[in-house]
Amino acid sequence: MSFRLQPSPVSRPNRCQLFGPGSRVALFEKMASSAADVMNLDLEDSVAPSDKDTARENVIQATHDVDWGTKTLSVRINGLDTPYWYRDVVDLLERASNRLDQIMIPKVSCAADVYAVDALVTAIETAKGRTKPINFEVIIESAAGITHVEEIAASSPRLVAMSLGAADFAASMGMQTTGIGGTQDNYYMLQGETKHWSDPWHWAQATIVAACRTHGVLPVDGPFGDFSDDAGFRAQARRSAILGMVGKWAIHPKQIALSNEVFTPSKAAFAEASEILEAMKLAKANGEGATVYKGRLVDIASIKQAEVIVRQFEMINDT
Ligand code: COA
Ligand code: MG
Repeated sequence: MSFRLQPSPVSRPNRCQLFGPGSRVALFEKMASSAADVMNLDLEDSVAPSDKDTARENVIQATHDVDWGTKTLSVRINGLDTPYWYRDVVDLLERASNRLDQIMIPKVSCAADVYAVDALVTAIETAKGRTKPINFEVIIESAAGITHVEEIAASSPRLVAMSLGAADFAASMGMQTTGIGGTQDNYYMLQGETKHWSDPWHWAQATIVAACRTHGVLPVDGPFGDFSDDAGFRAQARRSAILGMVGKWAIHPKQIALSNEVFTPSKAAFAEASEILEAMKLAKANGEGATVYKGRLVDIASIKQAEVIVRQFEMINDT
């Protein structure tokens, strides 16, 4: 580790973020009783312009009326390029209950976007005497967002999570696809006649993970649009987990169990990580920095790798 230590992100389960349009009140109780860790009530792109005001009122009411249990409650506001966002922030901060944990800022393209929302939120919190500071999460979903991802990750102490928004990202990048995440038929390498499919989302995900880990922010994979394709969702989520992301969005309830399954370390993975820690304890007692576990090298770095899995397993099982 360098002299500058890597900060730890907030310790809370964030395996699945379930979205529901703020205009569909009938979904709120169903969301609250689901197995998702984070609730994202949406005021942005799943709400038609004619419904913006009603959706905002619905969501504010739901912070008072619905029992959200121990879930993280987040509201996605409208983007800073719209006429809606300031009213979203003002009304939420002035009238939502203290149950509101987080605001999700979409289409963030630079640190100043977060700064602007922070300034408004801070003024209202102070004016209204709100005792629980609101956290932020952001979506990276544009060419500018991924270009400025590190300054965004460092933009505010309120920032706890960052997601990749595949659909808007693809559009902003000019990618030739209407798919939201997952395998893209035309993204392959040829070896002779054999096609090997590659992952066009990989670099953006890895870039987001690096920025997040540098600044103690949770990296999250965004939506997978084809909710009839369980195997495709699972494959995408597994790739994200391997890259260091902690969870994924669900845009339909059937994706919740899949996400929880992938982002909860299995008992077998936990057992193996615990055995590695034991093996290294023994090695250390014998004055060795490296040893052999099941025919492979484990050393001091392996302790940190194993601890990632053990910490995640214990955090999820403790909550
Ligand atoms: N949260 C909780 N429950 C949901 C839900 C959600 N997001 N979406 C659907 N359900 C419920 C339905 O009410 C239905 O319940 P029932 O069995 O009691 O009748 C059940 O799950 C099956 O729903 P289904 O009929 O398959 O879906 P739908 O046609 O009602 O809605 C979508 C499909 C995609 C429009 C809807 O899931 C949705 O709006 N998702 C979120 C979209 C969003 O917020 N996008 C922004 C982020 S990308
Ligand atoms: Mg979007």
